[in-house]
Amino acid sequence: MSHEIDLDSRPAGKALPWFLTITGLLTIGGMIAMPFLAGEPDGEKMPDIVRFLGRFHPVVLHLPIGIFSLILLQELLGMFSREKTRRSVLPIFIGAASAVVAVIAGFLLYHGGGYEGSELAEDHLWGGLGFASAAVLTMIVKAWSLAPTASLAFYRVLLFGSVGVMTYASHNGASMTHGTDYLTKYAPDPIRKVLGLEPKPKKEEIEVKPLEDQIVYADIVQPILNKRCVECHKEGKSKGRLRMDTYEMLVKGGKEGAAIEPGSAEDSNIVYRIELPEDDEEHMPPEGKPGFEEPELVVLKWWLDEGGDPAKTAGELNLTDEIRAAIGKLDLGITLIETAIKEVVSDLPSDDLRATVAKLGAEFPGGLTFESQSTANLTFTGVSMRKNLNDELFAKLTSVIPNMVAVDLSATSVTDASIALLASAPNLRMVRLSETEITDASMDTLAQLTKLESVNLYGTKVTDAGVKKLSALPNLKRLYLWQTAVTPEAIAELKKALPELEIVTGV
Ligand code: HEC
Repeated sequence: MSHEIDLDSRPAGKALPWFLTITGLLTIGGMIAMPFLAGEPDGEKMPDIVRFLGRFHPVVLHLPIGIFSLILLQELLGMFSREKTRRSVLPIFIGAASAVVAVIAGFLLYHGGGYEGSELAEDHLWGGLGFASAAVLTMIVKAWSLAPTASLAFYRVLLFGSVGVMTYASHNGASMTHGTDYLTKYAPDPIRKVLGLEPKPKKEEIEVKPLEDQIVYADIVQPILNKRCVECHKEGKSKGRLRMDTYEMLVKGGKEGAAIEPGSAEDSNIVYRIELPEDDEEHMPPEGKPGFEEPELVVLKWWLDEGGDPAKTAGELNLTDEIRAAIGKLDLGITLIETAIKEVVSDLPSDDLRATVAKLGAEFPGGLTFESQSTANLTFTGVSMRKNLNDELFAKLTSVIPNMVAVDLSATSVTDASIALLASAPNLRMVRLSETEITDASMDTLAQLTKLESVNLYGTKVTDAGVKKLSALPNLKRLYLWQTAVTPEAIAELKKALPELEIVTGV
């Protein structure tokens, strides 16, 4: 009997498994300690480097997902064939290491702010930590199972478990970026039924309330506050002991007293804080958060000055052209620009159209938008470009004009030449041309657009001869002629032709 060791059948050295076990367990311990050591996330105090590194999370995370999916696949194939799965710890080492990096980056992203109080974010954090820990454990076990005779059963159980946790965590993560209904949104009704979801809304049921019927507080003001302020001022996270998620809480206020003063924007604490210079310590929202945009502030102050009533509709308040324009510019995920949308006309936009709109979006920031997610209808507003918007620039939109349903060119430099292009927009329902250089010549174009419901010619050179042509528009409901040369006689004649028409003359 020889005690000599045969080199070829010597079991693999134990140094590597031991090394991986010790570093692996330390890594797991460190990762799990992170949330406890870091405490509540508070984006305000974080240096920019945290945000910078955090943003790598969405890049890195695909690596562990890809690697673990591949290893699982290889393992599944290996179970059904005789071929031995590769005896190397390297792939799973890279998978586990990248999972750890992804989790650390995700943790920094979380602490960089913006996710405070989000349960989904918290679930995702723990899911990610769970996956990375399971991944490291799986790697350790694999390292001990490299010998050809070793059983792979324990390793396989851990691998399947890891991939399970990974699926859960990535689903939560995807829900955070794309919304919880991302996967199911366009699912056919039978599948929605199995999942216990409501059937898809029918197209005809998607109806935007006319602006006049919208409740200003609930439909417009609170959504603005939700977008800009509520993340730090809500139940469970009320900075300055102020909650801004309900009307009652706004009135109740915080440490400094009531947050709003119905009837007076000037005396309302939230307006005071928003209007402070940006470098003021007390400016809201705090540094680093996107602040109130001009139209948002205009609408908020208007609502407060008009009484700050939680139940009144826009029609019950003094709804001026200026306010309409400001509301039209709000980006609240709903389209308020057109006020009387009865039918949602077309189908989903084609990829081509999406691409074109995205490209043009760079040239007309915020100007060109889809009316809603489910139509190819477009709305355009050039109001923020003011006099910079001229005929030459507007002509760049020629290819998408046929999709336009609402166009606002108020106070821009466009002339009759631009309006002539609108002849190719058969579904146009609303057009605002106030304070432009357009003349009666444009009325010939508008007279062809039989779907027009609302035309604003305030402060233009249009005359009696021009508006007479509009009497051929069967659906016209509202016409603004304030500060034009149109005479009362011509208006009377128009009224006769279109008894339903409301003509706004400012007198
Ligand atoms: C990133 C978190 C954050 C966001 C977003 C935020 N705030 Fe604040 N807010 C704070 C903190 C912190 C305080 C307490 C310190 C202070 O009073 O300045 C505070 C205090 C206030 C107070 C004083 C409350 C009181 O009675 O003491 C008002 C009013 C206020 N915020 C309004 C707003 C408004 C309006 C917005 C949206 C435009 C907003 N906040 C968004 C963090 C935030």
